[in-house]
Amino acid sequence: MNDIKTAFTSSPEDLEKITINLLLQGIYEWYGYDYRDYAYHSIRRRIWHRVHAEKLNSILELLDKVLHHPDCMQRLTEDFSINVTEMFRDPSFFLYFRKEVIPILRTYPSIRIWHAGCSTGEEVYSMAILLQEEGLYDKTKIYATDINTKVLQTAKNGLFPISNMKKYTNNYLEAGGKRAFSEYYKVTNHKVKFDSSLSKNIVFAQHNLVTDRSFNEFHVILCRNVLIYFNKDLQAKVHELFHESLAMFGILGLGDKETISFTNKADCYKELSGKQKLYQKIK
Ligand SMILES: C[S@@+](CC[C@H](N)C(=O)[O-])C[C@H]1O[C@@H](n2cnc3c(N)ncnc32)[C@H](O)[C@@H]1O
Repeated sequence: MNDIKTAFTSSPEDLEKITINLLLQGIYEWYGYDYRDYAYHSIRRRIWHRVHAEKLNSILELLDKVLHHPDCMQRLTEDFSINVTEMFRDPSFFLYFRKEVIPILRTYPSIRIWHAGCSTGEEVYSMAILLQEEGLYDKTKIYATDINTKVLQTAKNGLFPISNMKKYTNNYLEAGGKRAFSEYYKVTNHKVKFDSSLSKNIVFAQHNLVTDRSFNEFHVILCRNVLIYFNKDLQAKVHELFHESLAMFGILGLGDKETISFTNKADCYKELSGKQKLYQKIK
């Protein structure tokens, strides 16, 4: 009998890739969560972190544990979800939005905004403050979604660590803030609670950009610092969803390391600001 040879694989890296694919495929088939097209190097790092945290020896052992223990799946899901965020993140983005996008929105009788991948909600409260200062909040409905229900609960509570307020105040002022930032919150037990007038027009809901569909037509879609964790194919797929969900002349805002330029939707948008990653749908 001939010796068994590996057909296509030649290195430990290839073998590791096969086991990672098996893990992601198993998760998809068993739980319906689709991480198969997340950016490989980032997902690989998180998988190994979970292997060690569970005191396991290999990715295949993790596959076995994940399939038999939903609580382990929950922990891995949390590892996969990077929730870093801040209020008025990249203040120049919000300054540009205030100066150049608000005048466009002013012409609409009502405004629908989708924050896709909103994490714990800091970006959403920032937008609510900006719209309130520009006199547009009362005619706006904000839909804030994320795959991760835990961060959505924090967002709904609107409670944030007081230790972040110095940074957020600076960001707010750099973003063209018009009042004292502290007017927007009250302090209780080392946390700040944002004023309920800011959340009254916000709907927080779970939505998975990989598997869920469009659920409305929006005048603005902000999806910042989310697509960076997806591979190019998945980014292109999500851009189809955004294009389908944006009204004509609607605005798309991405994170500073993200772009639409490689997708086949690129020519459907006019670049409002390449630096701020703001685009307007023109077809
Ligand atoms: C780094 S945070 C970005 C938060 C905010 N947009 C910002 O720029 O500060 C990325 C968020 O994307 C969410 N996310 C990851 N995959 C997702 C998916 N498939 N569908 C929806 N949200 C997802 C994560 O749970 C996380 O809260």
